[in-house]
Amino acid sequence: MTFALLAGICQAEKYVTKKQPESKYMFEKYGLTFYDAENVNAYPIPDVLERLDGKGKTSSAKEWTVFSRPQIIEFFDREIYGAIPPRPKSLSFELAESSDDALGGIAKRRQYKITVGADGGSLTFDVLLYVPKSDTGKIPAFICPNFNGNHSVSDEKEVFIPQFYKIDKKGVSDPEKLRAQKLTRIPVRDIVSRGFAIATFCYYELYPDKKGEKAANRSVYKIFGKDKSGPAIVAWAWGNMRVMDLLETLPEIDTRHVAVAGHSRLSKTALVTGAHDERFAYVCANNGGCMGEALSKRRYGENIASMVNINFPYWFSPNLKKYADNEGALPIDQHHLLACIAPRMLYVTSSAEDYWADPEGQLLGLIHACPAFALFGGKNFPTLDALEIESPFHGDVAYHIRSGKHNITQYDWKNFIDYAIKRGWKPSPPKLSDK
Ligand code: GCU
Repeated sequence: MTFALLAGICQAEKYVTKKQPESKYMFEKYGLTFYDAENVNAYPIPDVLERLDGKGKTSSAKEWTVFSRPQIIEFFDREIYGAIPPRPKSLSFELAESSDDALGGIAKRRQYKITVGADGGSLTFDVLLYVPKSDTGKIPAFICPNFNGNHSVSDEKEVFIPQFYKIDKKGVSDPEKLRAQKLTRIPVRDIVSRGFAIATFCYYELYPDKKGEKAANRSVYKIFGKDKSGPAIVAWAWGNMRVMDLLETLPEIDTRHVAVAGHSRLSKTALVTGAHDERFAYVCANNGGCMGEALSKRRYGENIASMVNINFPYWFSPNLKKYADNEGALPIDQHHLLACIAPRMLYVTSSAEDYWADPEGQLLGLIHACPAFALFGGKNFPTLDALEIESPFHGDVAYHIRSGKHNITQYDWKNFIDYAIKRGWKPSPPKLSDK
C-alpha cells in the first residue's frame, strides 16, 4: 500500500502541473482547493480485507462472501447511497413497438414500456432494446442507461421520446432535436455488429436529476407512497435491475452474460447496481470519479463536501454529510464498493483530461479493490503503469485511460467488448447473409 501511495503522489503531481479546466461545479465561494497534491496522502487507505466488524482480516472467499461483503454493502446502504428501493409489488412489460429489420438490417428493435407499481401508485418508463439478427439462441447483453432519452442514442425515427419532456423541458427547446445527438455515447450499431444486445433507458424517468421536492415527487419513490422518498443513485440503479428483470423474460438473451455500463453519475450507478445485484456478470464503470471509482480519502478533484453540501445532496443518503471534509472518519473508501463486484468482471476507465474525476484516484480505487478479487483466485492485477494513455490493461480486472475529456466514446465500448470476449463471452454477430 505504501508503495502504491507514494507512487500515487508522484503521479498526482504530473496531473497537477497541468492547467486545471474550469468546472461549473466548482464554486469559488466554497473556497476549497480541489487540486492540492499534498492532500492525497492525508489519510491512509483502509485494507479492503480488514473486516468492518473488527474481527481481523478476511482470509478466504467464503469468509468474504458470508461476512465481509454483506457488512460493506450494509455500510454503503446506510451511510453513503441509501438502501436500494424494494422490489415493486407489480411489474409488467409491454412490447410497444418493434421491428425485425432495424439498424439497416443487422438488428431487431424492441421498445418496451416497463410499469412498476406498489401501494402508492405506478410509474412507466421506456426501454429500447437492439438485438443482433443472428442465429444463435443466447446473446450476451449490455444494459446502459442514457441521459437524454432513448432517441438520443438512435437515429431511427420510431424510437420514442421520453414523456417527461412534456412537463420538464430539461433546458431543451425541442426534444426531437436530440434525436441521434449522442450516437457515440452508446454506439448501438457497433455493439450489435460485434454480437451483443444493448438495452437502454433514460435515467431521468426513474428520478429527475434535480434537487428539491418536485423532482423527488416525480421519482419512482412515489409508487411506494407518501414520505417514502429516498436518494437518486439507488433509484437509477433500481432501474437497471428492472431492465434485467425484463431481459430475464427474453429467451434469446444469455442472462448469465449481462453487463451493466454507465458513464459518470451513471458509472457510480453501475457500480452500485453491480455491487448489489449479482445477476450482473460484468460492470463497466466509465469516468465515475468521486463516489464512483475514485478514492475519496485522496481529496483530489471533486470531493464529498462539494457533492453533499452544494451540488448533489439528493444523490446520496443524508448520512454522507458526516464525512464531508471529514474523509478520515470513513472506515471504508470507494475500493470497498468495487470489491463487492468480485469475482465478477469489472472494468474501470478514466479520461486523461478528466481531472475532476481524479484518474489516478480511480485507478488506485481499482488497485486497492484487487485483494478481494485475489481471494477468488485472481492474480493479474494492474499497477500505476496502467496510467499510460490508451494502453488498456485487461487482466483479472480491467482498466484504461483514454486521451481527451470526460466522456464515453466508441474507444471505451470497443474495449468493454474486447475484454468480455477475452474473458470467454460468446458474442452472436448478425448473420449478414440475411440482409
Ligand atoms: C459532474 C459531477 C460528477 C458527475 C458528472 C457527470 O461533473 O460533479 O460527480 O460524475 O457531473 O455525471 O457527468
